[in-house]
Amino acid sequence: MWSLSAVLLLVVGHAFAQLPLPEPAFMPPNASAGAAPSPSGVTPNSQWSSLLGDLLYFYDAQRSGKLSVGNRVKWRNDSALSDGQDVHLDLTGGYYDAGDYIKCTFPLSFTLMSVCWGATDFGKGYDLANQTPYLDAMLRWGLDWLIKAHPTNNTLFVQISDANIDNNYWGGDQTIPGPRKSYQINSTSPGTDAAAGAAAAFAACSNLYQNHVFSDFYSGPATLQNSTYASLLLQHAQALYTFATSAEKTEYQNSVPEVGDTYSSSGFGDELAIAALFISWATNSSSLYEEAQSYYSHYNLLATRIAQANPAFGNISTWQGQAEAYLDGVVYGGGNGYLTTGGLLYYPGDSDTNSLNPALNAAMLLNRYVPLASTQTKKQDYYNFAKSQVMYALGDNPMSVPYVVGVNPNSPQNAHSAMASGGNNINDINNDPPQEAYVLYGAVVGGPDKYDRFFDIRNDWPETEPALDYNAPMLTLTAMHVLNDTSDPFYTTLQAGTYQSKRPQGLPCDAAYQQGCAGPQLSQAGQIVMGVIVGLAGVVIFSLIGWWGWLVYRGEYDPCY
Ligand SMILES: *[C@@H]1O[C@H](CO)[C@@H](O)[C@H](O)[C@H]1NC(C)=O
Ligand SMILES: *[C@@H]1O[C@H](CO)[C@@H](O)[C@H](O)[C@H]1NC(C)=O
Ligand SMILES: *[C@@H]1O[C@H](CO)[C@@H](O)[C@H](O)[C@H]1NC(C)=O
Ligand SMILES: *[C@@H]1O[C@H](CO)[C@@H](O)[C@H](O)[C@H]1NC(C)=O
Ligand SMILES: *[C@@H]1O[C@H](CO)[C@@H](O)[C@H](O)[C@H]1NC(C)=O
Ligand SMILES: *[C@@H]1O[C@H](CO)[C@@H](O)[C@H](O)[C@H]1NC(C)=O
Ligand SMILES: *[C@@H]1O[C@H](CO)[C@@H](O)[C@H](O)[C@H]1NC(C)=O
Ligand SMILES: *[C@@H]1O[C@H](CO)[C@@H](O)[C@H](O)[C@H]1NC(C)=O
Repeated sequence: MWSLSAVLLLVVGHAFAQLPLPEPAFMPPNASAGAAPSPSGVTPNSQWSSLLGDLLYFYDAQRSGKLSVGNRVKWRNDSALSDGQDVHLDLTGGYYDAGDYIKCTFPLSFTLMSVCWGATDFGKGYDLANQTPYLDAMLRWGLDWLIKAHPTNNTLFVQISDANIDNNYWGGDQTIPGPRKSYQINSTSPGTDAAAGAAAAFAACSNLYQNHVFSDFYSGPATLQNSTYASLLLQHAQALYTFATSAEKTEYQNSVPEVGDTYSSSGFGDELAIAALFISWATNSSSLYEEAQSYYSHYNLLATRIAQANPAFGNISTWQGQAEAYLDGVVYGGGNGYLTTGGLLYYPGDSDTNSLNPALNAAMLLNRYVPLASTQTKKQDYYNFAKSQVMYALGDNPMSVPYVVGVNPNSPQNAHSAMASGGNNINDINNDPPQEAYVLYGAVVGGPDKYDRFFDIRNDWPETEPALDYNAPMLTLTAMHVLNDTSDPFYTTLQAGTYQSKRPQGLPCDAAYQQGCAGPQLSQAGQIVMGVIVGLAGVVIFSLIGWWGWLVYRGEYDPCY
């Protein structure tokens, strides 16, 4: 599917090395604290700051391996301590991908790329909220694992365990079943998308740790500069990019069929372009920048979607025109998405398995594009549209549900998370136990169905499952709001019981429940899904090209250098 690949494609570890964590630790407040408006008129607004903290805390709960001394999630245990033994390597650590215990490199890379890119531009929001040490810890927990997963230049581990094993287990972190096989790509069995996606993550995060200021339009990077770490990340980025471009070009599921059941990809042009752009930015390399342009043309990224596709980069009005043709389609209609009755941007197909993720990615892109927009009207319209999606996700919706666990009494109570549920009966995920054992604070769930209905059913994975990549755009959006929003997130107006009075009758209409609408038969166990937004790759490219474009425009960069 074009759009799936587009999103995907398009698109912390050593206790001493990272920034010291605050004492006492930030802990998510209980849900009732999210129903109490904060003193108005100040930045940072304490509710937005607290939300940022919750969103990062979610990643603590997803940790695999030996939990560090500072573990904040008391109900989690050390787990999967033998990962990598089958290949005589230490592949412990990293993050569980979603509601189960698989570790997947492709969506992890996407998540790290997205969070690092956001923290480069809106990083002062993390600083203001006192969350930068947790951002650092979150990134290193992922990046340090990704480093282990890249033991030689041309080897990248792309998945630990597989869907056959994982989808047949529902239980705690002490009895995760094996064998947990380590799947790799290498010179003889390559995977251009996975290698380039990891390269993009390393390069984007290298820029962040290098304190590389992307543009004076934005607030600037979070304060976690570490040049040693930045160089290490850049080395991995360059080696992986070389691997991606010099091996035979192919989708990684052609080399590792097992990823076809989790996160397959449908192309690699976007990852190549994004990796080349982030590395070119990290190294001031104009030749890599030109390579990115050539991928853009060669793979026709977005060309089918954008009428006046005419990739002549270095010309600011050309890339601006293309970016706005895409974003106008989102905001004014005419793109592939439409607005639900309740106001959620919905992409038929992609949104059916996780309705919030495409909308939040679109909001994130629109928000960051605002300062670059060509007219005052567009600046305002893009900003307002993005805000409407964020507010929808935070409770301004027909259900009065903020789709982040634990932030308000109306938040989802039944996240599709094996570890948080406390259950171990795969035949009765919904009722055993009746109440979720642990609150998975800060998890953005899949979201409502296309009729704006949210059923809060534990085995309804499209609506209630969390995932690493679901939180990523919300982090960047929340950091933006911490920076300059003096009013509370919408949910502080929602008092206990509001959702109960609106809870829908019947059954959902989504990819897990066909009862609410005739649909295809899918397995009842949790499936792994990854949010997709048409055009994410395109806008990443536009934004980065925009950076170069502005330098050219302002005479600060000589393309012949
Ligand atoms: C920078 O990061 C490196 C690599 O993780 C670490 O060894 C070092 O202690 C860090 N330096 C500081 C000042 O935190
Ligand atoms: C939530 O926290 C507030 C203040 O910290 C406390 O008064 C209240 O009892 C707590 N509620 C629950 C349900 O724990
Ligand atoms: C962690 O271990 C404790 C003690 O055995 C157990 O109660 C808890 O449920 C475990 N956590 C998970 C996520 O399985
Ligand atoms: C290369 O990767 C393929 C596919 O994962 C695997 O079957 C093969 O064993 C790997 N080669 C080496 C030398 O490990
Ligand atoms: C691995 O890649 C790095 C960066 O591209 C390069 O400097 C190094 O020489 C490579 N090592 C080997 C053994 O090829
Ligand atoms: C990259 O190029 C810019 C513009 O030419 C220059 O200001 C900057 O110092 C360079 N950065 C590095 C790390 O060489
Ligand atoms: C950029 O492209 C626009 C429209 O294609 C054109 O009018 C303009 O002259 C170009 N600018 C430069 C500096 O080439
Ligand atoms: C916050 O910043 C955005 C740009 O990032 C701007 O469009 C918006 O108007 C600002 N809001 C306030 C209240 O200053």
